[in-house]
Amino acid sequence: MKKDLDWSSLGFGYIATDYRYSSKFKDGAWDEGQLITDSMITLSECAGVFQYAQTIFEGLKAYSTKDGHIVCFRPDLNAARMADSAKRLEMPVFPEDRFIDAVCQVVKANQDWVPPYGSGATLYIRPYMMGTNPVIGVKPANEYEFRVFATPVGPYFKGGAKPIVIKVSDFDRAAPHGTGHIKAGLNYAMSLHAIVTAHDEGFAENMYLDPESRTKVEETGGANFIFITKDGTLVTPKSDSILPSITRRSIMYVAEHYLGMKVEHRPVYFDEVKDFAECGLCGTAAVISPVGRIVNHDTVIDIPAGMEEMGPVTKKLYDTLTGIQMGSIEAPEGWIKKIC
Ligand code: PLP
Ligand code: COI
Repeated sequence: MKKDLDWSSLGFGYIATDYRYSSKFKDGAWDEGQLITDSMITLSECAGVFQYAQTIFEGLKAYSTKDGHIVCFRPDLNAARMADSAKRLEMPVFPEDRFIDAVCQVVKANQDWVPPYGSGATLYIRPYMMGTNPVIGVKPANEYEFRVFATPVGPYFKGGAKPIVIKVSDFDRAAPHGTGHIKAGLNYAMSLHAIVTAHDEGFAENMYLDPESRTKVEETGGANFIFITKDGTLVTPKSDSILPSITRRSIMYVAEHYLGMKVEHRPVYFDEVKDFAECGLCGTAAVISPVGRIVNHDTVIDIPAGMEEMGPVTKKLYDTLTGIQMGSIEAPEGWIKKIC
């Protein structure tokens, strides 16, 4: 039976669900892994994760579909990105097929926590991995734990689909040689001061610029950018130091193949932003969240789509993407993994 939650008033927070998955790596091999009920983790004070932040994570969602199933969206891409992150931090790769199996096990075991179709909420799934044995010299751990938990969530930004106001961050999120293309703890920790500063000043998010020249648009703390030109082209920033968003890659495909739009994936200069008709943030958590205004100290850019609602092209992309995720629009081959 579904849990007794007020699904449509959920925000983006953590609620401990009943089951999580754990697998441990020791002596060069992963154990068989299992579902467990304990949400706590006890580790050595000297564990690699605490000393040198050797930890990575992923994020994806499970959806209730119109016809009563539970599915997740392109988990193979999360498995592949997690493998890239692991390699970059000298961690053992958790096999990609086992990653997908672990996600499915956690969702199935917690199906009473999956928000109903049409509630506006979804089940957020967080796979992560950390170095667990004591490490004091600067080197990788040799024991690891891979875990997956799930938590029901509502919209990432307060106000749901209402356009948000963001600022251009004065802080860099990563060094110019950056490791921002992986979900390493380091980069998110580097963004915390910037996000607290932005929130204190009344902004919902930060637009990070490339740290080297501060002329190009990178991404926000938890989402990539999409822009729509006045003649209806989708433009998304290309950079090696942003997270290769699965949502953004899916939107580019949907724009081209479902909506017949022109798509450009290229460096985007901050100077161009004032000329776009629509702006949005895209990601698993953000879905597609419209941006109405971008502030850079004394410069205020009001996006023509305005502060009242999503621009018309953004809305079409949003409806098509979420329609695919929730089963009302046929998905491209291999995008939807049916769990139960
Ligand atoms: N950029 C950052 C920094 C993120 O944390 C996320 C969230 O996962 C994204 C972009 C969006 O990526 P995805 O669409 O794969 O969720
Ligand atoms: C996601 O969308 O999955 C993210 O990781 C964004 C944020 C919650 C870190």
